[in-house]
Amino acid sequence: MAERVIPLIDQRSRPLDVPRAAQPFLAPGHLVDTRGRPLRDLRISVTDRCNFRCSYCMPKEVFDKNHQYLPHASLLTFEEITRLARLFIGQGVRKLRLTGGEPLLRKGLEALIEQLATLQTLEGDPLDITLTTNGALLQRKAKALKAAGLNRVTISLDALDDTVFRRMNDVDFPVADVLAGIDAASAAGLDRIKVNMVVKRGTNDHQILPMARHFRGTGITLRFIEYMDVGATNGWRMDEVLPSSEVVRQLQSEFALIPLEPTTTGETAERWGYAGLDGKYDPALGEIGVISSVTHAFCGDCNRARLSTEGSVYLCLFAGQGYDLRSMLRGGASDDEIQEAISAIWQGRTDRYSELRASLPEKSPQKSSRRVEMSYIGG
Ligand code: GTP
Ligand code: 5AD
Ligand code: SF4
Ligand code: SF4
Repeated sequence: MAERVIPLIDQRSRPLDVPRAAQPFLAPGHLVDTRGRPLRDLRISVTDRCNFRCSYCMPKEVFDKNHQYLPHASLLTFEEITRLARLFIGQGVRKLRLTGGEPLLRKGLEALIEQLATLQTLEGDPLDITLTTNGALLQRKAKALKAAGLNRVTISLDALDDTVFRRMNDVDFPVADVLAGIDAASAAGLDRIKVNMVVKRGTNDHQILPMARHFRGTGITLRFIEYMDVGATNGWRMDEVLPSSEVVRQLQSEFALIPLEPTTTGETAERWGYAGLDGKYDPALGEIGVISSVTHAFCGDCNRARLSTEGSVYLCLFAGQGYDLRSMLRGGASDDEIQEAISAIWQGRTDRYSELRASLPEKSPQKSSRRVEMSYIGG
């Protein structure tokens, strides 16, 4: 591999100040950003640690024994997370996703889920509470997570072949244990299980068909993700991106696929259903998804906010800085003050990195090393 310089800027020390409300306070749930996009999805990172070292996310050379993880006192407590989640819900959020790092490494996570499960949407409906995990600890934890109130789960899995998988997680973790974790999630009654596979050309693209064969007809939705230039440490190169159009072409060489309508606005994945013998979509065979952030940006209706492990709000996966809400929490701010802050932050939002990627100069700050790591704000 070519030698590469991997700058890891510590973006954690430079939070943005929370802006003052720019526009009149809007009726709850009607908040939109500068591009008319509502706030619906809050992704909460509960730890910056992970037990895997996927090279596209936490390369070993950077996240080694000298890497300084956040000290415990920096992390939001479960009470702080729940309070912020409640206030975000007050602004229209309907879906919560717990991420990391690897969220199952956060001690007592079930207790957080129990607290979050008591919250309701503005319309009085139950929240959609889900979690992204690498699956390593799922076998042990699936039952307790479900009992705590987790609705569904998404497991990251990049290959079925054990050798390829061990190489990609870079800690020699066996694929059989992740597959057992997926089975455990299913047995525990977790709903609408998804598997996310990041596709890197030349690394695991030969695993697309084996993965599809494995999950077809199981009720589990497999999604193929284009490898993204997120963060500043993964040495991303366009020639390692396999466009989703090529993924679909490969799948169509073996399976008949029918395009499906989106389930909600702002969805990341384009959906395709497996056709039965009659040529129509067969729900028993299930569906696949492709997430094409590089070749077909979906910023137009991006309704996602991200809360970092230490309580800063990031408005884009590719943002360099977040807005520090922890200081407000710990400085005694009232619920109204924090709601106003959330409202002002969202109203000022202009982010649409994936749409701009191609036209941004290589040296622009958004393309430079200032971007936050995905392991810090979550996928
Ligand atoms: P569901 O509600 O289960 O459909 O989840 P989701 O697709 O909204 O979230 P998930 O975390 O499963 O997203 C899958 C992958 O899509 C992530 O791991 C990222 O690689 C990518 N992704 C998610 N959200 C964004 C986003 O806002 N922008 C970009 N560029 N990529 C995203
Ligand atoms: N490109 C695409 N997806 C990524 N993820 C992490 N890093 C990248 C990247 N560079 C996603 C994967 C993983 C989840 C935690 O984050 O989907 O499953
Ligand atoms: Fe860990 Fe997920 Fe990142 Fe891999 S992609 S290093 S499993 S957080
Ligand atoms: Fe949303 Fe930013 Fe992703 Fe676009 S690049 S979809 S704005 S998170």
